[in-house]
Amino acid sequence: MSEVTAIEHLIMSQRRWSPHATGQFTSLMHDLILSAKIISRNVNQAGLVDILGATGSVNVQGEQVQKLDTFANNTLVYRMQTSGAVCAVGSEEMAEPFFVPENEPHGHYVIFFDPLDGSSNIDVGVSIGTIFSIYRRPDDEQYWLLNAEALMRPGLEQVAAGYFLYGSSTMLVYSTGHGVNGFTLDTGIGEFLLTHPNIQIPRVGKYYSTNHGYFNYWDEATQTAVHSFNRPTHEAPRSMRYVGSLVADFHRTLLKGGVYLYPEDTKHPRGKLRLMYEAAPMAFLAEQAGGKATDGRQRILDIVPTAIHMRTPLIIGSADDVDRVLDIYKEHGKV
Ligand code: AHG
Ligand code: MN
Ligand code: MN
Repeated sequence: MSEVTAIEHLIMSQRRWSPHATGQFTSLMHDLILSAKIISRNVNQAGLVDILGATGSVNVQGEQVQKLDTFANNTLVYRMQTSGAVCAVGSEEMAEPFFVPENEPHGHYVIFFDPLDGSSNIDVGVSIGTIFSIYRRPDDEQYWLLNAEALMRPGLEQVAAGYFLYGSSTMLVYSTGHGVNGFTLDTGIGEFLLTHPNIQIPRVGKYYSTNHGYFNYWDEATQTAVHSFNRPTHEAPRSMRYVGSLVADFHRTLLKGGVYLYPEDTKHPRGKLRLMYEAAPMAFLAEQAGGKATDGRQRILDIVPTAIHMRTPLIIGSADDVDRVLDIYKEHGKV
């Protein structure tokens, strides 16, 4: 126990390696971690207190907002807004990004988040999470002229990305572009401890993960790709796992390998997942761990967003498994 690294210590020591660091990233991570601890506590108490169920309002995606989504969003927005480290905040739960007023403490980071991912799983006790994506502000001189367009940067410009998983334990998995580390919350001492240093996705995995309910809505290329995993001709079929919370499905894929697919279909012509706070941060982690992420045509990290809430197909995971899907797409003339 005495030899375990706590996250706050790691962030402080990394700051020392970078002589020009202003301390803003340290404050941002500190406040993000505090937000997640608060959200995690409320997720764990969800069955005890009256915060379950839908609020009745409908978010910008046209979905029912659950009470915990609102709570998680409010917690994150407040902590980020008062951290002094960010100048703009974008969220799944807000139609437009929030810009910290010029006369209030602000910094040079922009953060996007999905405050609570997997909200359909809240009231059935299944893992959910918070996803975050961090950029440096686009134009230091013209900060007050920032508008939503200025924030739409491709995922490869992220300076950090990660997620908190509220599962059998609460975990933080994140990267600043130097590999991926995983931390587990020790609730006894209230600290995230480094439990999964330098995570690498296996080159192939034993699972595939997708919503089979949409099989008849997929095009032939996607149907063939999925059949290559569950009806292969030269290997044993893969096991299927699908939680329906991207954080949980991605976390398993990251640790155990395999492929996760949320392709476009006739009901979701551009896919369902949102580029800026679901696909891009997960793609950053996948690549940092030696895996791949594509929309079926191009690398997720190369896509320049055309809207804050833009959707994208996502195929992500072990490099060889993602390549197999892309090869089948090519054979079908899809790429
Ligand atoms: P959110 O709860 O933030 O709206 O995200 C839900 C997303 C994602 O977490 C999950 O992978 C996907 O929706 C599941 O969609 P289907 O129910 O269509 O499979
Ligand atoms: Mn989500
Ligand atoms: Mn969400």
